[in-house]
Amino acid sequence: MRRRAGRTGAREGLRPAGRLKLRDARAADRRAIFEFTRRTWGQYGDFIPRVWRRWLGDREGRFIVAELDGVPVGTAKISHFGGGEFWLEGLRVDPEHRGKGIARAINLEVLASLARMQPRAVRYCTGYRNWASRHIGSVFGFRIGARFRHFWAKSRKGSLRGEFATRRDAGEIYEFMSRSRFMRLSSGLVGEGWVFRELTMARLEGYIRRKSVMVVRRAGALAGVAIYPFDVNDKDLTMGFADGDPSAIKALARNCPRLGAMRGTEYCSMSVPTRYFAGLVEEAGFKRKSSMGQLVFEFVDPRSLARSPSNRK
Ligand SMILES: CC(C)(COP(=O)(O)OP(=O)(O)OC[C@H]1O[C@@H](n2cnc3c(N)ncnc32)[C@H](O)[C@@H]1OP(=O)(O)O)[C@@H](O)C(=O)NCCC(=O)NCCS
Repeated sequence: MRRRAGRTGAREGLRPAGRLKLRDARAADRRAIFEFTRRTWGQYGDFIPRVWRRWLGDREGRFIVAELDGVPVGTAKISHFGGGEFWLEGLRVDPEHRGKGIARAINLEVLASLARMQPRAVRYCTGYRNWASRHIGSVFGFRIGARFRHFWAKSRKGSLRGEFATRRDAGEIYEFMSRSRFMRLSSGLVGEGWVFRELTMARLEGYIRRKSVMVVRRAGALAGVAIYPFDVNDKDLTMGFADGDPSAIKALARNCPRLGAMRGTEYCSMSVPTRYFAGLVEEAGFKRKSSMGQLVFEFVDPRSLARSPSNRK
């Protein structure tokens, strides 16, 4: 019922009863926002408290709050990964105020801000079954850019297969990844939990520096490569890329919970683009929750933002 009411209301231009204001987040919003986000994902709560200080301090993107009659009731975060690549996250509306067009108003503000930031690419990730987020994406000019199956495993101690990549390997790995089927199916993105970034040489070198890349070699040639970024939102270790021959992929997937144990994370997760890769990581002991599919939406024409009416603010 709520959903139908929300839909009709938003389409007919219903405004929330009260005065809605969109502004930058402030330290003083903490209590209200932590309170209404406590049950965003049921028993899993929300990662907003974990990123709160970092998001508040972000001067390159924007942390937006929707305030209804002076009380914070919604959030959204624009993050800049560099080079005009933007990521949207943290869209939340207080459950007490959903279906009133507040997310719609927040997204108009997000688009207006983005227009001023002149993005080259804008993306966000949501769950397969998050119908609200999927609907909002399609209404606001996004399309599905990549689909992933999301797996998890508990971190546990064990010995690692393969070796950590070094700076000398960067060119060879970049070349390997450029030809990789996994990479093509992922639209050139590397997963870091629920955040996906474009692969660039500089980023690859950063992952290598942080000891987040492992390789398996046979007779000196690369048989497999995996990237294990730290998920800064959920504080898990992830495997955001793995390709090579099947036994190398499985060996590299088995490394993930072991690296998780070494780095002190309780869980680790991975995102893979097709049933083929999913089968291999399942054989390596990862579990999938049926609802845990991820969709990465991308804005169809970021340059059009500068021309949109929402930019005339
Ligand atoms: C998703 C969320 C932000 C929507 O907030 P909201 O203020 O209730 O949304 P609005 O009332 O502005 O509705 C925006 C549009 O989404 C539609 N919508 C809202 N909830 C919906 C649902 N459960 N299923 C399908 N469509 C839905 C509305 O009908 C409206 O569409 P329209 O403008 O074409 O009529 C809110 O439900 C929420 O905080 N959910 C938990 C966090 C989340 O899923 N965030 C999304 C990204 S991860």
